[in-house]
Amino acid sequence: MKSMYERCCEVMPAVAGRSTTLGVTDSEGCYLYTEDGRKVLDFASGVAVNNLGNKNAKVVEAVKKQLDTMIHVGHNVVYYESYVELAEKLVELTGGDTKVYFSNSGAEANEGALKLAKYVTKRPGIISFVNSFHGRTIATTSITGSNSAYRRNYEPLLPSVYWAQYANCYRCPFHQKKDSCHMECLKQFDTIFEHLIEPESVAAIMVEPIQGEGGYITPPKEFLEGLRDICDKHGIMLIFDEVQTGVGRTGELYAWQTFGVKPDIFTTAKALGGGIPLSAVIAKKEIMDQWPAGVHGGTFGGNPLACAAALETLKIIEEENLLEHCKEMSVYFMERLHKLQKKYPQVIGDVRGTGLMIGIEIVKNDGEPDAELTAKIKAEALEKDVLLLTCGSSHNVVRFIAPLIVTEKEIDIAVDVIDEILEK
Ligand SMILES: Cc1ncc(COP(=O)(O)O)c(C=O)c1O
Repeated sequence: MKSMYERCCEVMPAVAGRSTTLGVTDSEGCYLYTEDGRKVLDFASGVAVNNLGNKNAKVVEAVKKQLDTMIHVGHNVVYYESYVELAEKLVELTGGDTKVYFSNSGAEANEGALKLAKYVTKRPGIISFVNSFHGRTIATTSITGSNSAYRRNYEPLLPSVYWAQYANCYRCPFHQKKDSCHMECLKQFDTIFEHLIEPESVAAIMVEPIQGEGGYITPPKEFLEGLRDICDKHGIMLIFDEVQTGVGRTGELYAWQTFGVKPDIFTTAKALGGGIPLSAVIAKKEIMDQWPAGVHGGTFGGNPLACAAALETLKIIEEENLLEHCKEMSVYFMERLHKLQKKYPQVIGDVRGTGLMIGIEIVKNDGEPDAELTAKIKAEALEKDVLLLTCGSSHNVVRFIAPLIVTEKEIDIAVDVIDEILEK
């Protein structure tokens, strides 16, 4: 009998390819169950979607209950309780001074955020960062700087996009050291404004508060604070792409709360809908109030099932104290990985993370990125029933996207497997 992977290859293009050949038949908590009878520890979490683990029973119940009343009625046409209640909840959880607009995917929310910034400022320019990832639509591809393959053959893209370097202290693009630098990552904006685009023409600085696809890079808090100051000084919208960092992943509901730097606009997707497609643009009330009816929209945003699942997801995060748990598990995970780094200092160049957004950078003896070994670690871990993903523009970061419900037991399994692989 053909596997799901083999059947997929016959009817889908390579662009639909996955990072494994696993065919999954069931899922629960931290585990996936496969068509060939394996139980696999899931540290991919559907790429940062299943923050409550797989198939959370309460989310399943909430969706079933919503199914009894409606599947889709159209947020452009009528109002319904789960939609309104979720927006109220998100406003409450993000300071009470925000408003919310729902859409379906991360890219779609980022498109919305860009359009909102342009609409309100009436300015053309967007500044994005090298190594960033914001999505696969034309506009979000235009502001994605993590891999030239994502842009190949799609040029020309959105105009008036300018590039800045991200604050990557492990591989500083300005060749500085963290403790002695002069925040060249902020000073670069003087050059950008002097030589490339005047600040009065910039609608937004679009940034991931922690770079995801670019290598799980947590910047120093001062970098995000500095961006906030630059935006305030020049009337530029600061947009945080919280598609991957959101919904508890960093130990607060949103990473801007972890850093204490509030953006003008931020986007949330992935884990928001508890596994059902849902995203949102969230912005300060006075900004959202300048976005009139009809200038942006979509058919499916805020689908009742997705909103019901999201409400339950947020409730569980609160009731089960998952933000605290995330922070505790983060400390344990990082400690175990730092010990592993001490054991294999020639291989693990950097251990980094915030909350349960954790990565290890795999290097060669000379400190250069080792993409080959990284791919090998991922493949061998999967042979040992641990599902991991990689990231980084040099493809040399093993990332651990454990669900927020993870326990020390699962963390030990994953770290022990990497230890075994490296020892060999
Ligand atoms: C930071 C970030 N932004 C945007 C996206 C795109 O989200 P989606 O795939 O839901 O369009 C992703 C997806 O990985 C992401 O990590």
